[in-house]
Amino acid sequence: MNGMHVGIIMDGNGRWARGQGKPRWRGHLAGVDSLRDVVRGAPDLGVTTLTVYAFSADNWKRPPTEVGRLFWLLREYCLRERAELLENGVRVTHIGRRDRIPRSALRQLEETEHATARGRRLHLRLAIDYSARWAIAEATHALARKVKRGQLDPNAITPDLLHRRICGNVPEPDFIIRTAGEQRLSDFLLWELAYAELYFTPLLWPDFRRGDLAVALSEYRQRERRFGAVPAERAAKPEAAAS
Ligand code: FPP
Repeated sequence: MNGMHVGIIMDGNGRWARGQGKPRWRGHLAGVDSLRDVVRGAPDLGVTTLTVYAFSADNWKRPPTEVGRLFWLLREYCLRERAELLENGVRVTHIGRRDRIPRSALRQLEETEHATARGRRLHLRLAIDYSARWAIAEATHALARKVKRGQLDPNAITPDLLHRRICGNVPEPDFIIRTAGEQRLSDFLLWELAYAELYFTPLLWPDFRRGDLAVALSEYRQRERRFGAVPAERAAKPEAAAS
């Protein structure tokens, strides 16, 4: 699989619900419809890895009823969508802390991970109780433990080593989409995003569909990714002529 890795910060569920005169959780419910549609459409748009921010470590600060609804939705999503995900070749994995996820939701999440483990069309990564800073700290702890046991020379801790620890064999995200007009990263994939292209849309997440993903990707394809180098045609010219 060597298509694109896209990350999505699914924002605006609460505003969508307020605009409809509905309680906030109805926005999250509608957000699941968007997620389903985007997951269905992503492989045909060249996406092979999709990481979605479903619950941040900061989201525990929300009222307990809203938190409870979100984990109920996660459980329902795993239960109800599992067969379709499996049929469509979607592999589901989780990133983030597992120890604080309510048990019944965690059970369904892990069953879905297990059932879909052989999916090859799309790798769907659900970021739940996720914090990029926490993930970086976890990777650092793991390396520190190896140093303490004498299995790792501190000088061998390079960006590449840390990268492998944080990312495993998942390719770096190429493109990050955030809905609902906010222009920040909110502790999402901070290490992985070093060279990612960022895209912000005013659309609220429950209004976002695979067609909006196609629009975003067509903009991405017009961007020039340089990874710190100079554009190919300028690099080929002598310095004076290139100015
Ligand atoms: C942000 O909107 C969205 C979330 C905190 C939750 C995202 C969850 C879903 C899309 C559905 C559940 C996902 C799964 C995997 C079942 P917000 O509430 O911050 O919106 P606001 O900024 O307008 O208030």
